Amino acid sequence: MNSNNESQRVKFGTKIGVIAATVGSAIGLGNIWRFPSEAQANGGAAFLFVYVLCVFILGIPVMLAELSLGRAGGSDSVGNFKNLTPKSRWWIAGTIGLLASYLILSFYMVVAGWTIEYLFDSLSGDLYDGYIAATQDQENAFFASKMANYVSSTWNPLLWTLVMIVLNLIVLLKGVQKGIEKMSNVLMPMMFVLMVIFCAVSLSLPNASEGVKFFLHPDFSKLDINVILNALGQAFFSLSLGMGILVTYAAYYPKTTKLGQTSVTVAMLDFFMAFLMGLVIFPAVMSFGLNNNETQLEGTTLVFVTLPEIFAHMGGERIWASLFFLLLAVAAITSTISITEVSVAFIRDRCRVSRTKACWIVMIPLLITSTLCSLSLGAVPGIKIAGLPLFDALDNFATNLLLPLSALAICIYVGWVLPRDFIHQQLSNFGTIPAKSAPLVAFLIRFLSPVLITVILVAKLIQML
Ligand code: PFF
Repeated sequence: MNSNNESQRVKFGTKIGVIAATVGSAIGLGNIWRFPSEAQANGGAAFLFVYVLCVFILGIPVMLAELSLGRAGGSDSVGNFKNLTPKSRWWIAGTIGLLASYLILSFYMVVAGWTIEYLFDSLSGDLYDGYIAATQDQENAFFASKMANYVSSTWNPLLWTLVMIVLNLIVLLKGVQKGIEKMSNVLMPMMFVLMVIFCAVSLSLPNASEGVKFFLHPDFSKLDINVILNALGQAFFSLSLGMGILVTYAAYYPKTTKLGQTSVTVAMLDFFMAFLMGLVIFPAVMSFGLNNNETQLEGTTLVFVTLPEIFAHMGGERIWASLFFLLLAVAAITSTISITEVSVAFIRDRCRVSRTKACWIVMIPLLITSTLCSLSLGAVPGIKIAGLPLFDALDNFATNLLLPLSALAICIYVGWVLPRDFIHQQLSNFGTIPAKSAPLVAFLIRFLSPVLITVILVAKLIQML
């Protein structure tokens, strides 16, 4: 596709659409099930402080590097490099993010499928079928075995992954404005409303303030290098950096979009959602005395075991569970749409085919890779790479290695390869709006971000070896 066609590239129609779509990508399962437990275990308010710092010194600058690259390039994650530096091989850097996005998509689609499965089982009452209020251990065992059955069976998760893929396909086929933007404009406000309802309910439970203290108690003695690395990693994942998403979406940003303002708004809303989720979980956990077992508060167990248990204690469990899994499914689908669009845009631009064809070309192999990921969790235990189920192997490889590598390459490219005033031009919309922070942002992209990302990368490599 030549740059002439790309300058006529379809754009998001409104400012709200730009924010809703980008926030939709950022707010995902990372905010809902990873952030609260991570924060509580790593020093409460002390962790929040470090996290916000990481967002400002690493998250926002890298985000701005990606947004500037995408909007100026006006193409897909690889085409951006080709358009800006046609004679160089820097486009190879774009393939890292593209590969990361496809691998992440393969397993995240499966998890997204679980969220819809749980939503339907909550609505139908199946989730609580056979439930008898008993001792805490028995209740845990009840939901844990439900989860194990759901996750490791053969057909159920495949069916729901397929449902998720079809939902993604329906939105993506409709295109950027009528599909992605419209969906985000509806789902994002809905997600915030649901979150606020859960927050209000949880904070009004007996003993809620104990939960808030448990979540936020500032424990600076816990702050060590690992906590800082965790905060950096969480900021990275939560803001969808290095996945080719922001460079792809930014190509749909109108020329008038204020990149600085957009990045800060997205980062703050993303943080706010993660923080609110902490205010949902811990008051409820404390109120029902479920805080004595640390594994109860971790990741998948937190959402698929502990929360259903809490809803049973609250009464009206089918309604609460349905609303919660709706929230989770919405968070998942707005993220999967954004990451699938990376591949769709790539195929459409590089192979010069229609959006419709590109969607099908992406979805068909995805059926295979996500099926393999799902089966690797139990139904066909032999699907392994380096001794790990395919699902976990892809997760480790993509999130620990490819994401930092891709973001590092983008920082070096934007900071050192493109002209020196590139960041200023992009942040000031070519001199039409003030961009006082541009020198600081350029400094962070050129010097600090590459150093911090290299530290994360090396630390991850050491952990993996
Ligand atoms: N920011 C997203 C999250 O916190 O879940 C990261 C993400 C993961 C985006 C997977 C898209 C995706 F498919």
